Amino acid sequence: MAIETSCDDTCAAVVTGDGEIKANVISSQGVHDRYGGVVPEVASRHHLELATPVVDDALQRAEITLDDVDLVAVTAGPGLVGALLVGVATAKGIAAARQLPLAPVDHLQGHVAANFLHTEDGEPLEPPFLCLIASGGHTFLARVDGHDGFTVLGQTLDDAAGEAIDKGARLLGLPFPGGPHLEKLARDGDPDAFAFPTSSKLGGLDFSFAGLKTALLYKVRDLGEAEAQKRRADLAAAYQHAIVEQLALRVRRALKDTGLDRLAIGGGVAANGPLRERLSALAPTVKVPPRALCTDNAAMIASAARYVEPVRFPDYLGLEVHATGQRAL
Ligand code: KG4
Ligand code: ZN
Repeated sequence: MAIETSCDDTCAAVVTGDGEIKANVISSQGVHDRYGGVVPEVASRHHLELATPVVDDALQRAEITLDDVDLVAVTAGPGLVGALLVGVATAKGIAAARQLPLAPVDHLQGHVAANFLHTEDGEPLEPPFLCLIASGGHTFLARVDGHDGFTVLGQTLDDAAGEAIDKGARLLGLPFPGGPHLEKLARDGDPDAFAFPTSSKLGGLDFSFAGLKTALLYKVRDLGEAEAQKRRADLAAAYQHAIVEQLALRVRRALKDTGLDRLAIGGGVAANGPLRERLSALAPTVKVPPRALCTDNAAMIASAARYVEPVRFPDYLGLEVHATGQRAL
């Protein structure tokens, strides 16, 4: 059984040792949109209210009780400290009451490990493969050679792809989080209507998204309020296109550099339809997990936990959370 509370989704899941998902409950807080972003203290307080009901719900859906659980897993970082603390305290409490072992999981390893699960439309992907993780907090390309780690080949030098999407969406007057709204608006627009930067001059495998939102801001100003309003769908489509192209360009380079012929994707931005379509054409085998396994969820944490050395009771009672990556991403 796994718990994930690193940002604003309160998640619990039940997964078997061989990677079958028995329950995957995600409670999106939906209270942060009015602030245009996640408010850490608000997120923590909501996790506190939701953690127990979400765990109960996951057990019920899996048709098990805590007596059937062999291992409790929890995201220990990176993420919002207060939010992580709620998940870790909940996991410690549940595990300690039954003297179960506890597995602390790295959130980013969780996104990678989503590809090791059985899903309705696919078998787990076995390493080695190339993995693109693009979320609201992180954007990186990694080489995955085993089940318990990865090597970062390139990462964003400034904003994460999801952050760029959310900021662009906000400029276009869309609600937070902007990804799904931007995707929907972009369907009625022309991706070639405007040319936004794809940082193609940046060599290597690193990403840069900070210039993109500034380019959108200037474009909106140049067009003037009325015209920008009229062409919102074109602006959304061209903006989304620039992000998809920048990600696809690096993926193509990385496949060539590494000689790997299999690609997996993850992170909230991997829920994006045009990105999924674009990347699907880049390698002979492309694993595109279902959307619910791309955005933050606890099934991916349970999946990663299967390859973590569990900490025995009572050694984990002093376990701490970490806000930034141990991997310095
Ligand atoms: O992985 P995730 O759920 O949380 C983090 O760990 O950050 O990613 C959230 C990010 C947000 O920036 C959100 O706007 C973006 O993923 N996102 C999308 C879509 N759905 C979520 N971006 C583009 N298209 C989508 N359909
Ligand atoms: Zn995430």
